[in-house]
Amino acid sequence: MPESAFSVVTAADNPNLRDENSRIAAVAWPEFMLHDPVARFFTELYDYFPQHQFGLADEATGEIMCIGNSVPLACCKDLLELPDEGWDWALEKGIKGHEEGTTPTVLCAIQVMLPPAHRGKGLSHHAVRVMKEIGRSHGLPNMIAPVRPWLKADYPLTSIDRYITWTTNDGLPFDPWLRVHVRQGGEIIKACPRAMCVSGTIADWEQWTGMRFPESGLYIVPGALTTVSIDYGVDQGIYIEPNVWTVHRAQAFRLS
Ligand SMILES: CC(C)(COP(=O)(O)OP(=O)(O)OC[C@H]1O[C@@H](n2cnc3c(N)ncnc32)[C@H](O)[C@@H]1OP(=O)(O)O)[C@@H](O)C(=O)NCCC(=O)NCCS
Repeated sequence: MPESAFSVVTAADNPNLRDENSRIAAVAWPEFMLHDPVARFFTELYDYFPQHQFGLADEATGEIMCIGNSVPLACCKDLLELPDEGWDWALEKGIKGHEEGTTPTVLCAIQVMLPPAHRGKGLSHHAVRVMKEIGRSHGLPNMIAPVRPWLKADYPLTSIDRYITWTTNDGLPFDPWLRVHVRQGGEIIKACPRAMCVSGTIADWEQWTGMRFPESGLYIVPGALTTVSIDYGVDQGIYIEPNVWTVHRAQAFRLS
């Protein structure tokens, strides 16, 4: 999609963007993904950092076709020392850091999402680029991203460490979303095996997935990047999602 076909709207300009975020999240994500408890910090994300929450609006109709979210945070001096945690860690760290008055050193990507009707038009490339431009214009030239490699949902039994080594014939990442980040200048650093954690009762999981879990064990669930562990002993289902740290460095940035 050409750049002239959309405009960038931030939540600082348009407070309705947070309602659009909820509307699009409901159709963009598998239900269980909406039950990560850390997602509650989206309220503060919009309150504290409205300039970093944006939408790509159709120039002709004004419809929001894509949402991008990011959070400034204070990170380790050496970006290669990113933790085994990912999305949960970053969102909570950014919000708590702001409340404690910490000065952010880096921008962290939190989410890009489109309703199904607007997918496959190349908008996600624009979203990653716009996210970085907004960060740069607010004094944060480097961006880290705990990337959710969504096509891994087709390969839930493959380890994340193997999955991120898979490439296309032209040497780019096999996973389409990792490929977008690399094409936009990102560098894959390492897996973050504990990026997100979703936990609930077995009844919760049956409701979220529309599946039945007749006994304790590991289950393949549509949309999940790895298996969900069901334990009747404690009436609990746990999903620990692996993601992939990528770093988008500004040219002047040096690691050490
Ligand atoms: C992931 C997502 C943001 C991609 O947005 P998009 O605008 O539809 O993607 P694009 O059209 O820019 O395509 C990006 C790449 O994915 C590929 N792709 C898109 N849909 C695909 C599909 N169904 N199967 C395989 N590859 C696909 C494209 O070919 C492209 O690869 P290329 O750059 O090598 O050509 C969108 O599908 C989405 O919102 N998904 C749900 C939320 C999500 O998973 N967000 C990402 C994690 S935060």
